[in-house]
Amino acid sequence: MNIHKIEGAGNYPIYVGFDSLHKLNDLLNEGKQYSKLVVLVDENTHRACLPLLVAQVEKIATAEILEIESGEQQKNITICTQLWESLGAAGLDRKSLLINLGGGVIGDMGGFVAATYKRGIDFINIPTTLLAQVDSSVGGKLGIDLNQLKNEIGVFGYPQAVFIYSSFLSTLPEQQLLSGYAELIKHVLIADEAYWPTLLHIGKPQLELIDLDELIAYSVEIKNRIVLQDPYEMGLRKVLNFGHTIGHAIESYSLINDPQPLLHGEAIVIGMIAELYLSHLKLDLPIDTVNEIRDYLFSLYGKKNIEYFPEPALIKLMQHDKKNENRTINFTLLKAIGEAEINHNCSAEEIAMALKYYNLSSY
Ligand SMILES: NC(=O)c1ccc[n+]([C@@H]2O[C@H](COP(=O)([O-])OP(=O)(O)OC[C@H]3O[C@@H](n4cnc5c(N)ncnc54)[C@H](O)[C@@H]3O)[C@@H](O)[C@H]2O)c1
Repeated sequence: MNIHKIEGAGNYPIYVGFDSLHKLNDLLNEGKQYSKLVVLVDENTHRACLPLLVAQVEKIATAEILEIESGEQQKNITICTQLWESLGAAGLDRKSLLINLGGGVIGDMGGFVAATYKRGIDFINIPTTLLAQVDSSVGGKLGIDLNQLKNEIGVFGYPQAVFIYSSFLSTLPEQQLLSGYAELIKHVLIADEAYWPTLLHIGKPQLELIDLDELIAYSVEIKNRIVLQDPYEMGLRKVLNFGHTIGHAIESYSLINDPQPLLHGEAIVIGMIAELYLSHLKLDLPIDTVNEIRDYLFSLYGKKNIEYFPEPALIKLMQHDKKNENRTINFTLLKAIGEAEINHNCSAEEIAMALKYYNLSSY
C-alpha cells in the first residue's frame, strides 16, 4: 500500500498517500456506524474534489452535501450559524459525522462547527489544498475570524482521522499551491536546517517533479512533533507562529482593503521576511542569512506592494495576537535556520524597521 501513517497529537491517525482514501472506506465500513454523513464543501471542492471522493468512497454517495461559498471572508460566525441550522434541518444527531472536504477555511470552520454542534459531533478532514495538507488539517486548532481578527474565536478539537490524498492538488491553481508551500517553508525554517539546501534546490515547486506525498508527510511530521509536545500552545507550539504575528496583521488588513486580498500564505511570506529582520535585530541572526532567505522567498512569491498599509493599523491588529501577554507584541524569532525561539517582545519602532526592510528591499 502506498501510504504513510502518522499518529496525530490528540490520538487520531493521519494517512498520507495514494491509498489514503481506502482507509476512509475502511473507517466508514468497518468503524463506528454513523447515523448520518454530511460532507462540507465550497463551490470549488464541490466541483473538483467531490466527484473524485464519491468515485473512491462508496458511502459518500449517501451523504448529504452542504456547500458554502469559498474564501476567507466566509470564515465567520454568520456562516457558522447557517451551518448549525443546516445540520439541524438535515436531522444530524450526536452520532453523525461531518466530513470536511476542502482547504483551511473548510477545515477550520467545519471543525469548529462540528466541535460545538450539540456539544460536539465527530468530524474528519480531507484536505484539498496544499496548505491544508501540509499544515492546517492537523494540530487541532479549529475556529473562525471575528470581524477582521484572524482566528479570534475557536477551540482545540481533534478529528477522528485525516486523509491526505495529494491527487486533489491537480486542480488547485498555482497561486494557491504556492500559498500552501509557504507553511512548509516555515516548517523548514523553524525546525530543520538540514533541509534548507533541498528547498533551495527545488526552487519553485512543480507538482510533476516532486514526490508530493513525501514532502507532505515530512511537513506534517514536523508540525505533529511540535504539537505532541505542547498541544494547547502553552509554550513550545508558539514556534509554529513564526511569520504569523506580522503575517496575520497583513492578511487582515489586505482582506478588508484590497480588491484582491493576499492569500494566507502570501501574507505569511511577508511576515516571515519582516520577522527574519526582527530576528537579526533581537537575536543576531546574520544579515546575510536574512537576505538569502528573503531572496529565495522573493524568487517564489515576488515582492508585494504593502507600502500603503498604514503601520498604526497593522500594529493595532498585532496587539490582538493571541500570543501576546501584558499588552506587548510577542514574536517567535529565529536564532538560526532550524532554530526558533519563542516569546520575544518587539517595540513598535522595531516592527516599523522590519516593515521598512521589506519595503526597501529591491527585487
Ligand atoms: N488550523 C490551523 O492550524 C491553520 C494553519 C494554517 C492556516 N490555517 C487557516 O487556513 C486558511 C487558509 O487555507 P487555504 O489556503 O486552504 O484556503 P481555502 O480553504 O480558502 O482554499 C483556497 C481556495 O482553493 C479552493 N480549492 C480548495 N481545494 C481545491 C482543489 N483541490 N482544486 C481547486 N480549488 C480548490 C478553495 O475553494 C478556495 O477558493 C486560513 O483561514 C488560515 O487561517 C489554519
